[in-house]
Order: sequence, then structure tokens, then C-alpha cells
Amino acid sequence: MDRSYNKIEKYDLYRMTDNTTRLAVFCSGTGSNFQAIFYALKKKKLNAEIVLCLSNRSQCGAMEFARLNGIATLHLTEKQFTSFHEFAETMVWCLRAKRIDIIVLAGYMRKVPDAVVAAFPEKIINIHPALLPKFGGEGMYGMNVHSAVLDAGETESGATVHLVNEEYDKGRILLQQKVPVLPGDTPDTLAARVLECEHCLYPEALEQLLSKLHS
Ligand code: GRF
Repeated sequence: MDRSYNKIEKYDLYRMTDNTTRLAVFCSGTGSNFQAIFYALKKKKLNAEIVLCLSNRSQCGAMEFARLNGIATLHLTEKQFTSFHEFAETMVWCLRAKRIDIIVLAGYMRKVPDAVVAAFPEKIINIHPALLPKFGGEGMYGMNVHSAVLDAGETESGATVHLVNEEYDKGRILLQQKVPVLPGDTPDTLAARVLECEHCLYPEALEQLLSKLHS
């Protein structure tokens, strides 16, 4: 008997019957939300696994964390291609090759190509550091968001997990959590309070999405 063939057959059979949800996390920076999700999946024993970390920056904290934890990494930027179309199609191809079910944006500082959104309808989620629909849209990222919240004199801010569509921060809202804006807050202090809340909210939203997928 050809033993190597036998092994492949068993592996394929295992993959076909395995219903673990396969996640790709897209990051550009520190990756603290990526880490929060990674540890929450383990702690809560959720039926999902992060199988890919994709980034436009090869050396960011998120990619480093992925490498240290045996998660496949993919450095993909427009600059590597002669056209945006080729870049977007390659991204779709790679995600399909890794059999990705859900894409989790965790501090990915690029707009997800429309071709990817079309290939994964209602399967891409993002976390935004404010209470959408306020303080969202193009240019509303990082400290810009928190400065805008303070400039507007808001008494509360928070985080929003939403589905991703072709427009910045416009997809259906899945979950939100508020935090207070305190007297004397600076963009930095507000950002730290919101980020702490994100680390609980994002795993919770993902858990809810997974339970819908598995029900
Ligand atoms: C978070 O504030 C998130 O809301 C925004 O990008 C930041 C990512 O931070 N989308 P980290 O890389 O997860 O630490």
C-alpha cells in the first residue's frame, strides 16, 4: 500500500469534517486587539482558530506576535504589484487558499479592497475606537478620532464592532460599548480607556458572530 497517499487521504478527510472557523486577522500596528482575540479564543475554547495574520507592514508588533505564536504571516502591499487590481485579486486568492471563513480587522490601516469585500460578504468585521455612526469615515483613525470626540465636547465615547462594506465605517453595527469622557482627558488618556474596552468588546462580538455561524 502507498502509505503517503493514505496519509493525505486521512488529512483531507479530517479537514472536510472539521468545522473550526478559520480566521484571518489584518493588522498594521501593535496588534493588541489581535492578542486579545488570540487569548480569548483559547480561554473560552471557541471553535475558531487564527490561521493567518496579514499586514501591509512586515515588521509591526502584530506580525511579530504572529511569528512568535506559530501563526502564518503574509506581508501584502499594493507596492508589490503593478496594479491595484492585481493586488486585490492576489489578496482574494491567498485568503481562499488558506480557506478563510472570517476576516478580522484589528488596526489595519488600509481600506479593504472592494474585491475582497465582495468575496467575503458579511464575513469581515472591524473595531472602531468611537461610537459609530459618529466620528467615523475617511481620516477618522487613531488619535484623530479621540481629538474629534474631545473637540466636540462629548461626555462619552466608546468602541464599535461592525461589519465591513465598501464604505469606511458604514457596515452594520454588531456591538458597542460606551466609556466616559472624563474632565481633563487628552486624546492619549481617552485612547487608553477606549482601547481597554476594545479588548473585551472585540472577543465578545466575535464570539456572538461565531455562535450564529455554528447554530
Ligand atoms: C484600535 O484602536 C482600533 O480601534 C483601531 O486601531 C487600533 C488598533 O490597535 N481600528 P491595536 O493594534 O489592536 O493595538
